[in-house]
Amino acid sequence: MVGARDARTPIMKAVVYKSPCRVEVQDVTDPRLEAPTDVIVKITTSGICGSDLHMYEGRTPSMEGMVLGHENMGVIEEVGTAVVSIKKGDRVVIPFNVSCGFCFNCERGFTNACLTVNPEGYHGGYGYAKMGPFRGGQAEYLRVPYGDFNCLKLPGKPGDGHENDFLLLSDVFPTGYYGTELAGVVPGATVAVFGAGPVGLLAAYSAMLRGAAEVYVIDCVQARLAKASDIGAIPIDFTQGDPVEQIFELRSTTAFVEARRPGEEKMPGVMCGIDAVGYQARDREQPEKERPTQVLEDLIRVVNPTGRIGVVGVYMPSDPGAPSDAAKHGQFQFPLGSLFERELRLSTGQTPVKRFNRFLRDLIIAGRARPSFIISHRLPLAEAPDAYQKFDRRSDGYTKVVLDPQRQAA
Ligand SMILES: NC(=O)c1ccc[n+]([C@@H]2O[C@H](COP(=O)([O-])OP(=O)(O)OC[C@H]3O[C@@H](n4cnc5c(N)ncnc54)[C@H](O)[C@@H]3O)[C@@H](O)[C@H]2O)c1
Ligand SMILES: [Zn+2]
Ligand SMILES: [Zn+2]
Repeated sequence: MVGARDARTPIMKAVVYKSPCRVEVQDVTDPRLEAPTDVIVKITTSGICGSDLHMYEGRTPSMEGMVLGHENMGVIEEVGTAVVSIKKGDRVVIPFNVSCGFCFNCERGFTNACLTVNPEGYHGGYGYAKMGPFRGGQAEYLRVPYGDFNCLKLPGKPGDGHENDFLLLSDVFPTGYYGTELAGVVPGATVAVFGAGPVGLLAAYSAMLRGAAEVYVIDCVQARLAKASDIGAIPIDFTQGDPVEQIFELRSTTAFVEARRPGEEKMPGVMCGIDAVGYQARDREQPEKERPTQVLEDLIRVVNPTGRIGVVGVYMPSDPGAPSDAAKHGQFQFPLGSLFERELRLSTGQTPVKRFNRFLRDLIIAGRARPSFIISHRLPLAEAPDAYQKFDRRSDGYTKVVLDPQRQAA
């Protein structure tokens, strides 16, 4: 083990957060085993996530000097003396949650709320504000605590045809799936997904996997809506009018209307709603402005009485760049009265990735899921600063960027 350590140089390249809208690729110290349960992973792919953009824009507590990257996969380089089930050379993907496996919450499957890994809270995550002292994986190497628990083993070889599919098991595929779980998507369900970013597109895709009858996807970015349409969802452009009215209108022309009994006209919307946008939602009337509650308001209108809403888009308890004083403290006004009156169930939170990643992996291995349709760019680490900027602008075509730290810049 010592030999493997010494064979590596003590310096590696990593994407480091500097200040709002500025990240740099820098030399940082190489990670080392810190506990006997740790492993070191040589990263073959690391994703840039919509969640990274909250930090990038300075919309989270300060992160200066932090190595970013919570969507990580690679090959085991080194294992601690207490690691028993994985070994050097194994190909693995790592949930964005850091979790111990033995605390009250982990034991019940809530690895999104591990009680032991973050001294300052009840979440652990790589390279993320308030998620503990863990460096990210947009770098050549990553230290993974509790390697036995946190690494999911993969078949095949780095760079093979499933590299991009497997990377998405670290976060956005399980998160999209979690949205469908929270929204109660079952065969024959009607579903509205707000946001056609990576999470929204994979929520729509997961809804299809679960047998939904109709899936509407709402956004304004044409390239993203086109991807929704490619997988068989119905794209709704919110710049063309109130998306709730658009869905009511579209639903009123389907054969379902002919099959209705009296009274069912009171259910013109869908039964399942998913928020894959979060607190940086655009105001539909003035899309250049934010309206943090826009999507929640629309969901409460479009989901039929007795339906369910899954909120996987992030809402922050503290947001230095929020449009109002209340929002700076994570306080939002939204129609709780309608939520109650309509007998809706609303659930939210970070995804417990481990609850789903093994099963979603097996759908990929069996050829039943290809989530990589969302990936638009695979770039060397050196191009991260430019990629962050373009992804942040939601530039047409920048749907999902993954970085390959082993590839040299052109
Ligand atoms: N719960 C979790 O564990 C978890 C995990 C990963 C990501 N997330 C969160 O999920 C959200 C989406 O992530 P992403 O990577 O897809 O991000 P993204 O920013 O790429 O996508 C968000 C999309 O929402 C669209 N949008 C903005 N306002 C809208 C509105 N009013 N109506 C409809 N669409 C609107 C944008 O045009 C954009 O395409 C983020 O808040 C991210 O932090 C949560
Ligand atoms: Zn993420
Ligand atoms: Zn735990």
